[in-house]
Parts: sequence; structure tokens; C-alpha cells
Amino acid sequence: MREFAGRTAFVTGGASGIGLALGRTFAQAGMNVVLADIETEALAAAVKSLHNFGPAIRGVSCDVADPMSVERAAKASYETFGNVHVVCNNAGVAAGGGIENISLDNWRWVLDVNLMGVLHGIRTFLPHIRAHGQGGHFVKTASMACMNSALGFSPYAASKFAVVAMSEGLAAQLKPLGIGVSVLCPSYVRTRIGESGRNRPERYGVTQTPDPASAIGLMLAQIAARLEAGLDPSDVAARVLAAIRDDELYVFTHPAMRLEVDERFAAIQAAMDRVVG
Ligand SMILES: NC(=O)c1ccc[n+]([C@@H]2O[C@H](COP(=O)([O-])OP(=O)(O)OC[C@H]3O[C@@H](n4cnc5c(N)ncnc54)[C@H](O)[C@@H]3O)[C@@H](O)[C@H]2O)c1
Repeated sequence: MREFAGRTAFVTGGASGIGLALGRTFAQAGMNVVLADIETEALAAAVKSLHNFGPAIRGVSCDVADPMSVERAAKASYETFGNVHVVCNNAGVAAGGGIENISLDNWRWVLDVNLMGVLHGIRTFLPHIRAHGQGGHFVKTASMACMNSALGFSPYAASKFAVVAMSEGLAAQLKPLGIGVSVLCPSYVRTRIGESGRNRPERYGVTQTPDPASAIGLMLAQIAARLEAGLDPSDVAARVLAAIRDDELYVFTHPAMRLEVDERFAAIQAAMDRVVG
């Protein structure tokens, strides 16, 4: 997609962090922007904060884990701006727990938001984008955790691996239709992902606070420090805009992570070499 002005972008998780930065970048590029989020107070503040960057900004309350909620948010977008062209399935949450705490509630919550939420976005918007025929682009926010699950036995990494797999399959199927797909794989970015528990619905139980001296407690403290020192979300959003323009599938933002990717692929190649003999 090479033209942005006058087109419409729909961004989930738009009230904070990477989603809000995407909204700002799209507004600066002259797009109409719909920010969709479960956290309504933060959403209202986010919409207000973007009014200086572009006049056509709308916020819609949306829980991506609920397909009907995504449908309603889409309908509100069509009613406000007409056709939607760029869809960022970006909302995400993190909940960890190593082998000492394999919580089903954590798994359900993280997979419902990070994986099913992406699927609900595709199911809702794909028929619309195909029907209007003006072209479009899906951006799915995965993570470097999709390339390396060294953080441990984690629903987060599983959800992000799955988002990459979905994006690869979708990209091949949508290319002939003139619809692009990008999968964003950042490492640490300065956002509120470390406080994901603020948006955890009751049906998934409560976020456990681990003993700070335990292995998982120490790991979480290390992650918090890395997030604090992470990339600015607006740098990530600028990369995404370029990737949409140039129709790039994989979008990386942290070149230093290359070593970890190389290590993983080298281990896979070595295992294949052993079979070949
Ligand atoms: N920050 C990082 O270091 C980092 C690294 C890699 C990937 N990511 C991914 O980036 C994406 C954006 O996260 P962020 O880092 O900006 O964190 P963030 O917490 O600042 O923003 C996430 C947004 O998602 C919203 N959200 C949560 N559950 C939702 C739901 N059920 N429905 C709708 N909205 C919901 C939150 O309210 C919040 O506004 C996530 O998918 C995350 O996994 C973040």
C-alpha cells in the first residue's frame, strides 16, 4: 500500500504503547484512525492526545478476545469513516510463570487475547477489505519471543509463535488479492506490557505476584528493567509504516537480536544435517 492519506487504519491495543504510537504515525500520514481498546479511560485520553496530529481520530471500546465485540468495533469504524484499509491486530498481554506455575488461567487469557484476538480481527475485516477492493494491509504484532522462547515455559511465546505462523500462511493467500500482511517482531519497547494485569478480566482469575526472590520474581524484575530501557514505541511505528509501504512480511526492530535468531536456526539446521547423515 503506497498511499496513506485519506485511508483508514484500525488499531487494537490503541490506548497505550505501540498501538498508540501506530495511531499517531498513521494520523501524521494523513489517515483516519480508529483506536480500539479494552481500557476505556486510557482510550479516551489516547484519542484526545492524537487530536493535534490529525482531525479524524475515533476511539472504540473493544475486547479482542470476544468476536462480537470486534464485530461491533468494526461496524462503528465503517459508520464513522467508511472503508477500512489498514488493520493492526496489536492488542496483547503478557503473563508468565515457569514450570513451577503452569496456570490454565494464564494460558487461556494470553491465548484468547494474543492469538484468538488476532484471528477475530482477520475474520471480521478480511471479508470487508476483499469486498471494497481498494487494497489493504494487515499488521500482526508478534514479538521477538516468536523466534526464541528462552524466557521459559510461557504462554506468551506460544501465542507469538502462532501469530507468526498465521501471518506467514495469510500472506501467501492474500498476495494475489493485493492485500498485504506484516508481522511485527519487536524486542523490548518502553510500554506498559509489564503491567498487563491491569486489563485482566475477572473470568481469567487474578494475576499472581510472585515472591521477588524466586526465580520467576527475579526474571520479572529483569524484564521490567529491560522494558524501561527499551526502544521508543514511535521508532517501532515508523518501521511499521515503512513495512506497509514496501509490503514487507517480517518487521524487526532490534538488530542486536539477530544473534539469538541465528542460534535457533543453526540448532535447527544442525538437527536436519544429522538426519541427512
Ligand atoms: N513492549 C514490548 O517490549 C513488546 C515487545 C514485543 C511485542 N510486544 C507486543 O506489542 C503489543 C502491544 O503491547 P505494548 O507493549 O504496547 O503494551 P501496552 O500494555 O502498553 O499496550 C497494550 C494495549 O492492549 C490493550 N489490551 C489488553 N487486552 C486487551 C483486550 N482484550 N482487548 C483490547 N485491548 C486490549 C491494553 O489495554 C493496552 O492499551 C502486544 O501484542 C505485545 O505483546 C511488546
